Amino acid sequence: MRLIPLCLTVLLFACDSQVPTNAQDINQESGDVYTYSRANRDGIGKVYMGREISHVMGHLGAGWLERPERERDERTDLLIDNLNLDPDHVVADIGAGTGYFAFPMSARVPQGKVLAVDIQPEMLAIIESRKQVGLSEASWQNIETVLGTEDNPNLPDNAVDLIYMVDAYHEFAYPREMGEAIVRALKPGGRIALVEYRMEDRTVPIKRLHKMSEAQSRKEMAAIGLTWVETKDILPQQHLMIFEKQISAP
Ligand SMILES: C[S@@+](CC[C@H](N)C(=O)[O-])C[C@H]1O[C@@H](n2cnc3c(N)ncnc32)[C@H](O)[C@@H]1O
Repeated sequence: MRLIPLCLTVLLFACDSQVPTNAQDINQESGDVYTYSRANRDGIGKVYMGREISHVMGHLGAGWLERPERERDERTDLLIDNLNLDPDHVVADIGAGTGYFAFPMSARVPQGKVLAVDIQPEMLAIIESRKQVGLSEASWQNIETVLGTEDNPNLPDNAVDLIYMVDAYHEFAYPREMGEAIVRALKPGGRIALVEYRMEDRTVPIKRLHKMSEAQSRKEMAAIGLTWVETKDILPQQHLMIFEKQISAP
């Protein structure tokens, strides 16, 4: 796994080239859902359903996730308000980073919990240290950190009401395996809130491989058997896309 630290200047004013539609597959293993091509600057050269997967944002970029202007620019308050959380919900924040969302969400599920999943132990250590600082905040104690792997979030089966992924899914090196594990972790009728910077909007100042279109997102979620419920384009820069695991799903 290759990690790169990201900072605002790296993400701003995206000008990287996109995966060419005629990208030449260098190594397509038979039966593999992935193909491989020359990597773009911000990608890993691994292509899933026509989308090149981006590098993982390294923990040295943690400060960017906690930038003070984030709530104003991305209306993260509005995002949480629109998740329709019930007090007893179990939420899995996959690709939780520094816990920017895990902490405010934990207050919305006082009888439930937030499972903060990440593959970088350094990110989880930041969350644990923030929990220590906020010991007086009872709700923060219902955040549990979970160390995932690139292809498995290590969540229990049929246990989660909402899987929440903000600016993370496009980095998953094994999106098909992660997706299948996510479906297993969801309770029947459970939902996914997938939040990605809008690819369709050229004015969103984020590099191309760190954005996703609604069409691409829906295609990838359909491939793991999830049903699209709605796309709430209420945020300044991101899609908020809701998917559901059917009651009858295994
Ligand atoms: C750009 S950060 C976003 C963090 C957080 N969601 C936020 O918006 O503040 C993406 C995070 O996803 C994590 N990540 C990447 N691949 C992952 C995987 N397969 N499973 C879990 N986390 C992953 C990275 O380690 C990183 O912390």
